[in-house]
Amino acid sequence: MHSTLVAAAAHAAGGALEAACQHVPGALMKFNDIVVQKGLGSWIWDTAGNKYLDMTAGIGATSTGHCHPKVVEAVREQAGNIVHAQQNIFKAHTKQLELDAALSRIMPQQLTKYFYCNSGSEAVDNAVKIARAATGRECIIAFDGGFHGRSIGAMALTTSKVIYKQHFGPFMPGVHIAPYPYCLHCKVQAEKGHSGYHVAPYMPPFDSPDNRVCCGAPQEALEWMLVQHVHPGDVAAIILEPIMGEGGFLTPPPGFMAGLRQLADKHGILLIADEVQSGAGRSGMWWAHGQFDGGAMQPDMVVFAKGIASGYPLAGVATRQHHFDNMQPGTMGGTYGGNAVACAAALATIEAIESEGMLGNASQRGVQLMQGLVGLADRYPIIDVRGRGLMVGIEFGSSSSSGSSSSRLKAEKGVAMAVTKAAFKHNLLLMTAGARESIRFLPPLNVTAEEVDTCLNGFEAACKEVYKR
Ligand SMILES: Cc1ncc(COP(=O)(O)O)c(C=O)c1O
Repeated sequence: MHSTLVAAAAHAAGGALEAACQHVPGALMKFNDIVVQKGLGSWIWDTAGNKYLDMTAGIGATSTGHCHPKVVEAVREQAGNIVHAQQNIFKAHTKQLELDAALSRIMPQQLTKYFYCNSGSEAVDNAVKIARAATGRECIIAFDGGFHGRSIGAMALTTSKVIYKQHFGPFMPGVHIAPYPYCLHCKVQAEKGHSGYHVAPYMPPFDSPDNRVCCGAPQEALEWMLVQHVHPGDVAAIILEPIMGEGGFLTPPPGFMAGLRQLADKHGILLIADEVQSGAGRSGMWWAHGQFDGGAMQPDMVVFAKGIASGYPLAGVATRQHHFDNMQPGTMGGTYGGNAVACAAALATIEAIESEGMLGNASQRGVQLMQGLVGLADRYPIIDVRGRGLMVGIEFGSSSSSGSSSSRLKAEKGVAMAVTKAAFKHNLLLMTAGARESIRFLPPLNVTAEEVDTCLNGFEAACKEVYKR
């Protein structure tokens, strides 16, 4: 159907929308029922001309906002130059080499080789391949609640929700899942009569010992895992999201990342930082692993995607210099990897983030957003506000003030989705996160103070509607 016909059908009432969307598989989760016409900055417009504040940024992909002029220009220019300079046919293409140079500026300095592909899942799969080939070991340890993608390999490492795996087994073997420190719901702390967290406000200065103390149980469980479940000599890599995204926007407690590095070093295990959602400036630093324990984690690989190219499909793995040494030419590849237009978009994205001070803006607007959300915790059952920069999540607890402290940490089922749907009625686009009742805020890195205020107002109106207060 011609696009204007689709648009006309889509904004006609009821059944017409369903008819226009008849080819869209129902297996895709849809947070909203609108058909998008265009986007600019933090805003999108639907086919009926309604305007929405987009606090999802395409799940963190449109890092510089929709249609950033520098990205648009770079893409236009590259589309007229060369689009597909296939990576096996040529030694390289010029935009790839420029992107290599830009990445070598912003990546941890030990990561000097860059393999490009098209999606986060594909990048995770390739990181597993590289880790196996580089170490000659098979097993991968991932963390409970993590999300690493939907391909057959990445899905095996994913445990954030069963829905991502339902009917899709059998899964890739050699995967071991370790507990993750979700301190807010930590049973060890609960037995001592308190939470590992000061429940909201959990605010800057983050991770001061007054704010949060880990009981150490997850780290200990991981150590036991290497005694009881899998020999460390069989473990190629530990993969983790520096800020756990899909699993609920969880941050690691002080000492956890540094401890992982020590454990990995002790056993010659590689540490893979899956920065698909947390990276590319989202946390207020180029890579979120640097936010914790003074950057002591120092990954052996960084997996990147999403925000690196403002919504264009570019992903990849940054590795140490020697990681490909055991691999014959032809072992890695992919038709579209390092697509020239996507590389141009990534270059323009990095340039825009740097020249327009978006890392600083992400930190400042992130604090504004968190402070606003903490303010709402007085009126609504928000039991946690967490994250870094513009990767911010809240978690709802029970709306009843009676009951045990553990029952107060458990929200009524479905409230996060109900608030997300109510926010939509106030022209605010949000997403839920995790298996508990959490909502995530992922605005573009150049979101303004005024837009953050608009978001807070819309979110409060949505909470008011759901909680009738
Ligand atoms: C941390 C993380 N890793 C991997 C992926 C998979 O990326 P993609 O959807 O591009 O395959 C995601 C997607 O949300 C993610 O958040």
